[in-house]
Amino acid sequence: MDGSILDAIGTPLVRVDSPEGATVAAKLESFNPGGSAKDRPAIAMIEAAEREGLISPGDSIVEPTSGNTGIGIAVASAARGYDLTIVLPDTMSEERRRLLRAYGAEIELVAGDMMDARARADEIMADTGAVQLGQFENPANAEAHYRTTAPEIIEAVEGREIDALVASVGTGGTITGTGRRLKEEYPDMDVIAVEPEENAVLSTGTAGKDEFQGMGPGFVSELLDVELLDSIETVALPDAERECRRLAREEGILVGQSSGAASIAARRVADGLARPDLNCPEAPAAFSDGGLEAGYDDCPLVVTIFPDSGERYLSTGLFD
Ligand SMILES: Cc1ncc(COP(=O)(O)O)c(C=O)c1O
Repeated sequence: MDGSILDAIGTPLVRVDSPEGATVAAKLESFNPGGSAKDRPAIAMIEAAEREGLISPGDSIVEPTSGNTGIGIAVASAARGYDLTIVLPDTMSEERRRLLRAYGAEIELVAGDMMDARARADEIMADTGAVQLGQFENPANAEAHYRTTAPEIIEAVEGREIDALVASVGTGGTITGTGRRLKEEYPDMDVIAVEPEENAVLSTGTAGKDEFQGMGPGFVSELLDVELLDSIETVALPDAERECRRLAREEGILVGQSSGAASIAARRVADGLARPDLNCPEAPAAFSDGGLEAGYDDCPLVVTIFPDSGERYLSTGLFD
């Protein structure tokens, strides 16, 4: 039994459609208590601020977020007794707003993007004395993935070597924390970032405009360890959304836009690494039979992160 909902962090790693001669496995982060990868940094940032004596229950927290971090912070704030205001770009889905309110958070919508949300959160902090957790620069964000996401992946692959990690980038916390820990374990592994084709700051150095929720903040986050990245893949929103529909209809995996993008990018990477000559066995049988089949370890393995659920996007018409 867990002592609190905050102890119920942890998600499955599931094989998804893979090219012949390679395996793509996706970590389904919607299985976390607040429904996304961002529960991990949200809880970790609150715990770190408590340890540093910056906040204690009853205090006020303000955070600019495209939604999922806010929901994670709202879960942790409810469980620990904080007053929370979330500043949210008005383009973010209705589900996100309602979920935040359901957990008791106040929400303030701003016209514009994450840059505008950050500016408004700074104002609220200056006016009210509320504490900002600062997900774009807070080391506890990436550390949460270093301490939890990566070890769960290492355990799930049961001794098999990982060849590539493919992850979408918002704050960069997921790819930095998970990538750092996995590279310690698998030094030859490549780390591949995914960003919106319409707003490819990492690839081109120039910000654009995109409507992805959660990835592509329009600037290079302080937290992102760009040295860790071996390459960058870009994916256009219509392609990512088509992939979300395919994953739901053909694989029974309901995920959001950034997961669709990660899935496409992971498939591209796996296509490049695939070794059809090796006759790689299907993953589930090899794992559930309690060990690796002969020769299995040579088969390329690409791990990707699916940050949240498609349920969070139903009102956008994504699955219509
Ligand atoms: C749906 C979604 N995808 C991807 C990301 C990017 O994750 P990170 O901020 O760890 O880079 C986020 C972050 O909020 C998100 O909400």
